[in-house]
Amino acid sequence: MRSKLVAGNWKMHGSLTENEALLGALRGGLGSAAPSECAVCVPFPYLAQAQRLLQGSAVAWGAQDVSEHAKGAYTGEVSAAMLRDLGCRYVLVGHSERRAMHAEDSPLVARKLRAAQSAGLVPIVCVGETLAERERGVTDAIVSEQLGAVIDGLGVGVFAQAVIAYEPVWAIGTGKTATPEQAQAVHTTLRRLVVQRDPGMADSVRILYGGSVKASNAKELFAMPDIDGALVGGASLDPKEFLAIWRAAS
Ligand code: 13P
Repeated sequence: MRSKLVAGNWKMHGSLTENEALLGALRGGLGSAAPSECAVCVPFPYLAQAQRLLQGSAVAWGAQDVSEHAKGAYTGEVSAAMLRDLGCRYVLVGHSERRAMHAEDSPLVARKLRAAQSAGLVPIVCVGETLAERERGVTDAIVSEQLGAVIDGLGVGVFAQAVIAYEPVWAIGTGKTATPEQAQAVHTTLRRLVVQRDPGMADSVRILYGGSVKASNAKELFAMPDIDGALVGGASLDPKEFLAIWRAAS
């Protein structure tokens, strides 16, 4: 059976001082034996701080992006091995903000996922449609292409050590959450894509929902059979909200 995962994506927010308070509150709020997993994906410069403050706690940490390359002349890039060096467990790949603003296409996202796994990280691969795509009725086609690039390129076996996050672009940072039924429908499509290739993975692959998740809507989302947790942006910067979301998953 799958355990739930609530992961925060801080995006480009934080400072040494603010993080100290936030990470301390999470560490204290979770205790040591957590029934659901909790993780924070922080900006690169704060990974060492996360490692220092979270080591030995029930909160895992990770990054928001990773290079497809292992090492070399790639100015500004950060390798998966470097993230492992800093104790990361997770890394986001293919977040819609990177797809839209950094021209990341699905084959590149698949290569990043492979690089992350090769170094022992658990990638969280993000997929999701824009509002225009939803209105055109092509949501399933879009997320199937995005996930299909990973499955076709790397094989479905990668999902033994990877997490999927469905994040409708129109729900990110807008306060407009997908309804539990809308999210459940897409999660079913995504799970089916994996299961078609390997029925044995039906019960193991974790699919998170992301897009304006808050303490007030988390419970009803988590009640859906194929929603295995959340990828939380804005609300992950507020320890009370984030802990309440994590509690709703527990
Ligand atoms: P919000 O929770 O702020 O909508 O962000 C979602 C997201 O992009 C998480 O990766």
